[in-house]
Amino acid sequence: MGKREIRLKREQIYEGYQILVNTTYPLKEKNEENNPQISPVAVDKRWPEVTVEWKTARMLQAALEAAGAAGQIVPVSGYRSLAEQRQIYADSLAENGEEFTRKYVALPNTSEHQTGLAIDLGEMAEKIDFVRPYFPDTGVCGRFKALAADYGFIQRYEESKEVITGIACEPWHFRYVGRPHARLMKRYGWCLEEYVEHLKDYPWGKGYLDAGGDIRVCYVPAEDSESVIVLEDEWEAEVSGNNGDGFILTMYREGRL
Ligand code: DAL
Ligand code: ZN
Repeated sequence: MGKREIRLKREQIYEGYQILVNTTYPLKEKNEENNPQISPVAVDKRWPEVTVEWKTARMLQAALEAAGAAGQIVPVSGYRSLAEQRQIYADSLAENGEEFTRKYVALPNTSEHQTGLAIDLGEMAEKIDFVRPYFPDTGVCGRFKALAADYGFIQRYEESKEVITGIACEPWHFRYVGRPHARLMKRYGWCLEEYVEHLKDYPWGKGYLDAGGDIRVCYVPAEDSESVIVLEDEWEAEVSGNNGDGFILTMYREGRL
């Protein structure tokens, strides 16, 4: 069985589908005007201005279709530039005050919306609140929520995790992390902060979290300039930074992710 080397440069810890973005781990300066490859959500041609990272868009489209949500769930806010996040924060401060804004709007450079991996969804209505769209647990929204993890999405800010995330419960804000990761978080009841932390108990070569279906997830600490791992040829790998101190490695057998 052949082997191959995978080299991970330290600067790669700031990019990938599982990066953790919050006030402790803000987006890095070089990513401030970070331009992910974005595309329209395309679930509904009436909102062409709402864009997300391209794979996020594809998976979101599939999840909305599976939930039978066409015309009933509206994409409200996706990718935001740093300038847009600044404006939204300033507008909310002026309109809603400081306490509300701190709870519901991330400080510029700590917003997942700047990565293109987050989407706010709202139930179709004549008037939709931009900061807090209505997204109940029932009906079509409930259906979407129930199958979100199977398409790689998590509800990012849950009520029971407010102390950890620093953001109030946001039933409308979904974050794409990838299917095995969303399923693991759902299985263990972990928010992204907890997931990234728990993964450090499974360092490369010493252990892994079994995501089922021959998919394994582990943590690779970042070395000073480059981390090198040696993988047997039978395994494919996808790597994301954690935006802090290392990488999240997803190993899978060919075509199984
Ligand atoms: N509403 C979320 C926290 C954001 O502004 O990114
Ligand atoms: Zn949001």
